Amino acid sequence: MSARLLLGRVLSFRDAPREAGERAVRYIERGAVWIADGRIVEVGEAADVLTRAPADAPRDDHSGKLLLPGFIDAHIHYPQTRVVGSYGAQLLDWLNKYTFVEEQKFADPAHAAAVAEFFLDELFRQGTTTAMVYCTVRPESAEAFFAASESRGARMIAGKVMMDRNAPSALTDTPQRGYDESKALIARWHGKGRLDYAITPRFAITSTPEQLEAAGALAKEFPGCFVQTHLSENDAEIALTRELYPQARDYLDVYDRYGLLGPKSVFGHCIHLSDAEVATMAAKRGVAAFCPTSNLFLGSGLFNEKRLQEAGVPVALATDIGGGTSYSLLQTAAEAYKVLQMNRQSWPALQAFYQLTLGNARALGLDDRIGALEPGREADIVALNSRATPAMAHRMEAVRGDLAEELFVLMTMGDDRAVAQTYVAGTPAKASA
Ligand code: GUN
Ligand code: ZN
Repeated sequence: MSARLLLGRVLSFRDAPREAGERAVRYIERGAVWIADGRIVEVGEAADVLTRAPADAPRDDHSGKLLLPGFIDAHIHYPQTRVVGSYGAQLLDWLNKYTFVEEQKFADPAHAAAVAEFFLDELFRQGTTTAMVYCTVRPESAEAFFAASESRGARMIAGKVMMDRNAPSALTDTPQRGYDESKALIARWHGKGRLDYAITPRFAITSTPEQLEAAGALAKEFPGCFVQTHLSENDAEIALTRELYPQARDYLDVYDRYGLLGPKSVFGHCIHLSDAEVATMAAKRGVAAFCPTSNLFLGSGLFNEKRLQEAGVPVALATDIGGGTSYSLLQTAAEAYKVLQMNRQSWPALQAFYQLTLGNARALGLDDRIGALEPGREADIVALNSRATPAMAHRMEAVRGDLAEELFVLMTMGDDRAVAQTYVAGTPAKASA
């Protein structure tokens, strides 16, 4: 049995601090996490845990640093690592000018494999251990991503994009091909080890009604699979969707009418929803992925977290690389805070760190496996240094033992430099060779 002990300041959540208050937070100043065979065995005061753990288990001393569950990114595009920071366009032009050009390179399995390795290295470097990932239309791109994730032992959700119109011909499938290729990938990868499949019609504009029908048929056939797509991100996108789907009541109805809206469906952006759409999302438990750096970078709009939360829509936080500009979920949380400031909404740091861990795990229905430091959970853990840079250490001098204040500075000033170590299934993540 491969055991390991992590020593540090344990921080994990039992619930949302916004609703449950202090009871939601589990914090142990001199804590220890005992892990064995990829899972957490025990979490508690170091003095107690050390009496029970095997004496010869290696000890990783992160004293002074925070030990949290690995971060979860609910919406990200692995073929867009070389799209980040593309200048001067809003969504539809950005897709045509930059994204659809870059995604064509993933027809080459060697390119796809190399980028998948880079992408996973980068996620782990940033403390992210689970992500819900878009591949390209080519099944080879999904194959490469799943294979790389499997070899790292990481919990990942991904899917081949389905798109059969309004894109270069090299990036389109057909309703039948999209269905067949997705089904073959589901058979190969869904539920294999720590991997799950997401049926991935890119968005209404790039799928014909026939293709959304095929995606809906897959969702019905494979109810254990996730569904991911984009919804109500940009004004021009919404207008074109209305033209392409005149029968639909609204944008959300385009997906709903094909059976693509449910508790395992994650919708990127959800910025400009009508009251009726919000009510339907809540009733059917569809998940809204809040992608602040992307929404700011592409000038899409300001996400209204309070409105969705009060209506009962599950919300997850996400980077949306490469519309998004940072792989860091700390930086993403900082930008989320600023977006909510613009809406005169509050987002305390404890709520933010809950969202990055248990909150996102709950939104994805994975909270029985990840998102908390509890016995039996998978040992995906990040060690964070709140004093990682001179400016952070200097700022922390003014934080006198107040955890919420420390966390707020950590997310505001921190990024990959604050990530001391990431553990994936109990093993320190190392960069691929
Ligand atoms: N809508 C459809 N595809 C995309 C994409 O790749 N990124 C973003 N931000 N929005 C999209
Ligand atoms: Zn996206």
